[in-house]
Amino acid sequence: MLIKTVALKKEYKIGDNTVKAVNGVDLQVEAGEFISIMGPSGCGKSTLLHLIGGLDKATSGQVYVNDVELSSMNDTALSKFRCCEIGFVFQKFNLINEMTVKENIVTPILISGRKINDEYINGLIEALGLKDRLDHTPLQLSGGQQQRVAIARALANDPALILCDEPTGNLDKKNSEEVISLLDTIHENYKKTIMMVTHDKSIADHADELYVMEDGTIQ
Ligand SMILES: Nc1ncnc2c1ncn2[C@@H]1O[C@H](COP(=O)(O)OP(=O)(O)O)[C@@H](O)[C@H]1O
Ligand SMILES: [Mg+2]
Repeated sequence: MLIKTVALKKEYKIGDNTVKAVNGVDLQVEAGEFISIMGPSGCGKSTLLHLIGGLDKATSGQVYVNDVELSSMNDTALSKFRCCEIGFVFQKFNLINEMTVKENIVTPILISGRKINDEYINGLIEALGLKDRLDHTPLQLSGGQQQRVAIARALANDPALILCDEPTGNLDKKNSEEVISLLDTIHENYKKTIMMVTHDKSIADHADELYVMEDGTIQ
């Protein structure tokens, strides 16, 4: 079991109001699985991914990754986890526009203090069709190309788990299909576990398993 959440909750208190963004999620994902979570805007998809990726802390409940509970990790261990063991792909790409494509891709490796494995990185660049774009900056690329750079960056440290938050949300149909088919390839060729949230059924259908989220819970 790679990921397990137990009665996972995240509440936001705003004045007298409490928003139950994630309201008791019990989810298990096996290593090597590709799952998608589909649900309308505001149902808690991003919050759930942030909790699993250690970007946010739960109000109650647990997240286990490879049997290690995230809340038991100190800040150093949690930073290492975020940098080396997961890759995050965001809807808005979140690339650094002042850096080249190549620099963006290797950033997680440099942050983690590791050495760049040229063979692995060149393979990634090839698989994602970015060979001719390495010296470009993100704003010189199409949305689909920017998301391919973000996927390469997510894979740079060779993490077991890739978390994708609406990876096609900012793309047109053609680019969406290209990005989802690359995620399929990565799942197959790189044997990654992928968790993807989306509100698009045709994108969600690429996964092995599809869960539906509503009002902070998974059906
Ligand atoms: N930082 C925050 N502060 C307050 N409320 C938040 C915050 N983040 C998310 N929420 C609320 O939690 C709910 C779930 O949000 P989110 O996880 O972003 O949903 P989704 O990704 O499915 O659109 C929404 O009602 C949203 O307004
Ligand atoms: Mg969201």
